[in-house]
Amino acid sequence: MQVTVLSGAIENLSADLLALPFAEFEPAKWKLPPRLSALDAALGGRIADAIRSGDFTGKRGESLTVHAPSGAAAKRVLLMGIGADAKLELGAVRDLAAAAVREASARKGAVVALVAPSSRRVRPQAMCQALAEGAVLGSYRFDTYLASRKDKKPLERVTFVIERAADQRAASAAAAMGVVIAESQNLARQLSNEPPNKLPPAALAKAAEKVAKEVGLKIHVWGKAELAKRGFGALLAVAQGSVNEPRLIVLEHTPAKGARSKPTLCVIGKGVCFDSGGLSLKPSTSMEKMKHDMSGGAAVIGALRAAALLKLPLHIVGLIGAVENMPSGTAYRPDDIVTTLSGQTIAIANTDAEGRLVLADVLHHARTTYEPVAMIDLATLTGACAVALGTWAAAVLGNDPKLVQRVLAAGEATGERYWQLPLWDVHKEHMRGQVADVKQTGGRDGGTITAAAMLWHFVGETPWVHLDIAPVADTEKSSALQPYGATGFGVRSIVELLRSWPTR
Ligand code: BES
Ligand code: MN
Ligand code: ZN
Repeated sequence: MQVTVLSGAIENLSADLLALPFAEFEPAKWKLPPRLSALDAALGGRIADAIRSGDFTGKRGESLTVHAPSGAAAKRVLLMGIGADAKLELGAVRDLAAAAVREASARKGAVVALVAPSSRRVRPQAMCQALAEGAVLGSYRFDTYLASRKDKKPLERVTFVIERAADQRAASAAAAMGVVIAESQNLARQLSNEPPNKLPPAALAKAAEKVAKEVGLKIHVWGKAELAKRGFGALLAVAQGSVNEPRLIVLEHTPAKGARSKPTLCVIGKGVCFDSGGLSLKPSTSMEKMKHDMSGGAAVIGALRAAALLKLPLHIVGLIGAVENMPSGTAYRPDDIVTTLSGQTIAIANTDAEGRLVLADVLHHARTTYEPVAMIDLATLTGACAVALGTWAAAVLGNDPKLVQRVLAAGEATGERYWQLPLWDVHKEHMRGQVADVKQTGGRDGGTITAAAMLWHFVGETPWVHLDIAPVADTEKSSALQPYGATGFGVRSIVELLRSWPTR
């Protein structure tokens, strides 16, 4: 999909669909805005007629299609309500663009023009970035395994029209960045949506290799033998029940020469390609959707892709522990004691608490190998997280208040909701073991906190945040912006966190 930004007149835009946003208005007081007069004239007054009918008042989410007479540049005009300007936020802007592209593709349109809402609150740059994100996110759906995908006509071109020519360059650059970020989020969605029979750990590694090649990331992948040689005892314990062998995937973005300073950040993802629970088998209704248990890893691949394409001036290492958690004669057991890469031992209580074992080794490896200034992990770690927060937010916990604040700010800026849960020394103490150094699980209460507290034993003194994305990694509800299935949550906020990282 090609995304461009133009400025100026809108009456000559040729498009299958021309989307026209309207702030909410009172029908009795409505007058045709000067900017629309030439367009309305070209359409024989149909916009003014439609609005005078009272069928459309610009309420958020409201829309009305006006068909153009033959010969007009735009085939149809979609009036779209955005509500009161005072309440316009970037989330609504993304929704708007997504709804416009959905409507166009429902009508088999390939070319969309969208007039950027004029807003006193949102600057043209932020507006065009959000519009681009919305258009790209709204054009995604998981149809890889549907016969009907062949009938789908892909969107070719989306044009946003802003008011002032002076803003065009900056707005174009912002839109281009929005495309990169949203395409990276769609990549994360796609990887997470892939079924477990098509995407075992080896295939996830292959997918990462393909991305690395496309965007110029360094990559190395370690298999079972290498991991065993190096002592990834916890990760390997989880993996040993499956015939699909584990992989450690390491993606590396190095800034261009001359970048002034290059702090290293590590972004770590849980990549459980399928979580059956292992011998502590999940009931069937809980096992469904467990293909999404590698969503943290998928978000890491998406974020590293964006970091490379945006040429961020940081050294960023993405690490994904990819395994499958299966029951079998070779599976690890409750009561097993595993020796982690860090040397600390863990007594297994429940083989379904596998994510923290994988992360324990990958966090230790990241810290000791790359000595990062900060580590961020993303993981669909606990069902308890949705009990605490519902499916409206991910949890953020960490050992460094400044880093937690950065995540909260990045979430705020990108519309990805995070809520902080406490992580105190008492929690860390609680996870000290009786028969092994560290407990695997911490009991029924505060499950998201105790899982994070367990990870804390493996991060040393490195500033670290843990993002439990279990509640938000996939969704049953479907909207224009977010179809059923994987959300790609984390890509936007991680990219924002990296983009806003001080580089000196
Ligand atoms: N992958 C699950 C967490 C999960 C649950 C993600 C539901 C998304 C939706 C994780 O591996 C798990 O099974 N956690 C256990 C931990 C427990 C055994 C301490 C859980 O949440 O029940
Ligand atoms: Mn599990
Ligand atoms: Zn899991």
